[in-house]
Parts: sequence; C-alpha cells; structure tokens
Amino acid sequence: MLLEVRSLEVSYGDIHALHGVSFEVSQGELVSIIGANGAGKSSLLNAIMGITPLAGGSIWYQGKDISALPSHERARLGIRMVPERARVFPILTVYENLLAGGYRRPKNKAFEEKLEWLYSLFPVLAERRTQLAATLSGGEQQMLAIARALIAEPSILLVDEVSMGLMPALVDKVFEVLQQLNRDHGLTILLVEQNASASLRISTRGYVLETGTLVLTGTAAALLADERVRSAYLGI
Ligand SMILES: Nc1ncnc2c1ncn2[C@@H]1O[C@H](COP(=O)(O)OP(=O)(O)OP(=O)(O)O)[C@@H](O)[C@H]1O
Ligand SMILES: [Mg+2]
Repeated sequence: MLLEVRSLEVSYGDIHALHGVSFEVSQGELVSIIGANGAGKSSLLNAIMGITPLAGGSIWYQGKDISALPSHERARLGIRMVPERARVFPILTVYENLLAGGYRRPKNKAFEEKLEWLYSLFPVLAERRTQLAATLSGGEQQMLAIARALIAEPSILLVDEVSMGLMPALVDKVFEVLQQLNRDHGLTILLVEQNASASLRISTRGYVLETGTLVLTGTAAALLADERVRSAYLGI
C-alpha cells in the first residue's frame, strides 16, 4: 500500500471535521473522494500533507508512519498537493512559476528535460511560457498549478477540487491531463471533488465522504451506478 489513512480524526475546536476516516491508495491508482461543501475534503488532504494537525489516528506512507513528520519532510518523501483554489504567482511568468516548484538544482539538464516534458503535457503553458501568470485564464492557472506540483516529481499527487470555478470544457481538459498522468506515466493520484461525474469517470476507485465520515466505497463504475451517488451527487 502506498498511502494508508487509519481512523483519522481532525477537529477545529468544537468542530469535528473528520471522524474515524480510514482508506488506502495503492501505487498506480487514481482514487477519488467525493463530498459536498463542508464534508471535510480539504481537511483530509491538509492532514495528509501535514498542514492540519491530527486529533487522532495515523497516516502511513510507503509502510512508514508519517503522522508526526512536518510538512516539508512529507513533501521530500514525494507527497505533493495542488491546494484548493491553487494560487500561482501572478507577477511571475509561467516559466518562473515552474522554477519556483521546489526543484533543488534548477537550470541543469534534468530540469530542462523535465520542463520540456511538462510543456508537452500542457501545450498551452508552452505557448505562454514568457507570459505573466496573472494573464492566464482560470483553467490555464490550474494547469500551471498542477505542472508546478509535478516538477518536483511526486510519487503521489493530492488534488483539491481542481474543477472548482472552471467551465465544463476546461474541467474535461484538466481531468484529461490527470488521467493521462496516471495512465501513461504511472503517477498515483488522490482527488477530492464535488464534481462526482467528472472525477469518477477517470478514477479506478472512489469513496464518498459525508460530514467527516466515509459512507460508501467501490470501483468508480459501481459508484457511478449507485442510486445514492446518482441522486446525491449526479442529480439523476
Ligand atoms: N480552520 C478552520 N477552523 C474552523 N473550522 C474549520 C476550519 N477549516 C474547516 N473547518 C470546518 O470543518 C468542516 C470541513 O471543512 P473542509 O474545508 O475540510 O470541507 P470541504 O469538504 O473541503 O468543503 P468545500 O467543498 O467547501 O471546500 C467544515 O464544517 C468547516 O467549516
Ligand atoms: Mg475544500
């Protein structure tokens, strides 16, 4: 198992955001956690990343308990997150934003190759490499945020509601790239999303998170066909 979350608890004072959340992600999987506003999706990813403290439970990565590690050490193990409403640096160019992606020795050959690979994945960023990030559309900024997370070569990518605020055509485009990264490049991805149909369509498995508890799990196909998912998240 690459990532294992056991009986996770997250509280903010009297607010219990997560109670007893347990799930796992294997190497090479693309897993979605579906949940409405306030379900606890961001709390979950922030806890895995080490940004939000645990009130209980543990997080295991590559067989090691990482619950007590600071965030930067988790990043060093290969855990990277594209945060909710990911911010790019507006007055830096696309290229400078990518340089800021946390790569240790920039501007060597490996970095240049990495950059070319990212530009081939995101042609729209290649065309705009000298343009200020502030001038990119919302969808392009999301692409840049994903590319910036990838430059550090993560072993798992945590993605927090990348579809938020994007028009449907752009949502499809961003999800297509995530699927391609998983399928063609073997990147393990954990998505948290309100957009159940778009995210389950590219996932191998999924979970449904309701007010801090996982209430349903299954293959993506089984969840898409499940009456409870269809009525609550797909509006069918
Ligand atoms: N820093 C905080 N202080 C107090 N309460 C918080 C804090 N962060 C989140 N919460 C509460 O915890 C619960 C879960 O919030 P969280 O942001 O994890 O949900 P979410 O599923 O990401 O929602 P959204 O889809 O709106 O992003 C909510 O009730 C929220 O109000
Ligand atoms: Mg959130």
